[in-house]
Amino acid sequence: MKRPNRSARSAALVGDETSPLLACTPASWVEAAAERIPELLVDHANCEKKAASTALALIFAYPEDRALAVALSKLAREELKHFEQVDRLMRELEVPFVRQKPGRYAAELRRCLHSREPRRKLDLLLVSALIEARSCERFDLLAERLPTTVAGLYAGLRESEARHFERYLRFAESELPGEAWRPRLEELAAVEAELATTPDRDFRFHSGPPSGAR
Ligand SMILES: [Fe+2]
Ligand SMILES: [Fe+2]
Repeated sequence: MKRPNRSARSAALVGDETSPLLACTPASWVEAAAERIPELLVDHANCEKKAASTALALIFAYPEDRALAVALSKLAREELKHFEQVDRLMRELEVPFVRQKPGRYAAELRRCLHSREPRRKLDLLLVSALIEARSCERFDLLAERLPTTVAGLYAGLRESEARHFERYLRFAESELPGEAWRPRLEELAAVEAELATTPDRDFRFHSGPPSGAR
């Protein structure tokens, strides 16, 4: 797999054989995050809720896939626990909840989804794997850069998100065994890498570096 835009720092996942990610988060995004912790936490809390709701939506969309339903039921509960952890930290740090416009990352990835089955199910699993993997990579980077109050939480969440992306990938693999899922993963991963690394109008947990950041 070609790995464009790889920075000198070897982030935990990019470059790893098991990682679906094609590009490291730019250092300018990490620096923006360190300067904008309240915004980061608000969006992160939203991401955890969204991760739980995505898992539930998949359970409803594919009820006949009972192995998927049971795995995602557990995953959704973990995501809601993460939400509660972030909410607790926001209260400790006196970060108010502020409504934010949805960012471009999830919207653009959603535009790539096939509309027809069985391709749609494969795409949903692969996109979920990519989002979880990006979360995992960013938790790792932020755990090194942010103050200990936030870094401690992020170091702990990293492990869960690693399990989540692996789980989604295994289910994708079982949809199209024999490596046939991999070319589609590479197509979606190229879009994801672009979204995570190119200048973005809004700063979000999964955004590119905010426009104006150097
Ligand atoms: Fe999570
Ligand atoms: Fe997750």
